[in-house]
Amino acid sequence: MNRKNKLFGRRTLIKRIGMVAGGAMMSPIVMKTSLANSKKKSKKVLSIAHITDVHIRPEHDAPNRFSKCLADIKRHKIDFFLNGGDTIYAADYDHITRERVTEQWKIWKKLRATFSEYEVHSCLGNHDMWWAAPNKEDAMYGKSFAVKQLGTPGRYYSFDKEGWHFIILDSNNKNAGSLDAEQREWLEGDLDKLPQESNVMILSHYPILGVCTIIDGGNHTDSAYISNLFYAHKDKKITCLSGHVHLLDQAVYNDVHYFCNGAMSGFWWEDGNEKSAFKYWYRETPPGYAILDLFEDGSVINTYYPHPY
Ligand SMILES: [Fe+2]
Repeated sequence: MNRKNKLFGRRTLIKRIGMVAGGAMMSPIVMKTSLANSKKKSKKVLSIAHITDVHIRPEHDAPNRFSKCLADIKRHKIDFFLNGGDTIYAADYDHITRERVTEQWKIWKKLRATFSEYEVHSCLGNHDMWWAAPNKEDAMYGKSFAVKQLGTPGRYYSFDKEGWHFIILDSNNKNAGSLDAEQREWLEGDLDKLPQESNVMILSHYPILGVCTIIDGGNHTDSAYISNLFYAHKDKKITCLSGHVHLLDQAVYNDVHYFCNGAMSGFWWEDGNEKSAFKYWYRETPPGYAILDLFEDGSVINTYYPHPY
């Protein structure tokens, strides 16, 4: 999400949202795929933390607040992390300097070292890339530098764990979010290679199909193509995760479940604006992270944990 258009009436807002929400409003929010609602119990094979839109930055004590979230996440006994992009606050604007980009990634790497015992599988967010480099040959320009900072095998990739196939997409293309031609071909091939009835989890930055995006924008612009592709693989149990919008929602289409899991940074670690329901929230969504339980039969329980930091 592009925060530049989202700041209005700062003075009014400070008056309106003095308090962080507490009590019941901070209770975990559980969302389940249809299979997970069935009475038949399946074996849980993985537990994953989905963090997204961390937007790490030196201001607002963000690094310490992130560390507090991490300590909470570790208590959930997860197997690994999926990181949904916008890992740093912003590198993408025209005025961003080399020093500023370096500073943000340095903070991320320092924090990453504090949970190095976990694998983190990341995708690229729209704010992670530095396009204002002096030229395209600059080592810090664009996607390859961000990929290097995140330590991923590429801008899109897939891997397998415990009978689940994970696909990590790069939504940051023309008419974002979207998949470029090269990535479409790769994704089609990757899905084709899977055995019938495989369990598949797909991570993207922009929601492939959302509900909150009707209100706030930010949806993939090629949802028709992607959902058609999923329909061609309707034997498989596909669940999609996203961020970008900083809002929490779930959508179901052709039995594919799409969970958009808010933002770890809430309102970019800032207090909020006049649309924030409470301090630190983006509109009606508190800052938070999701813990996902993945089962042998392809069902998923996605629990969103608001955090008070
Ligand atoms: Fe974001």
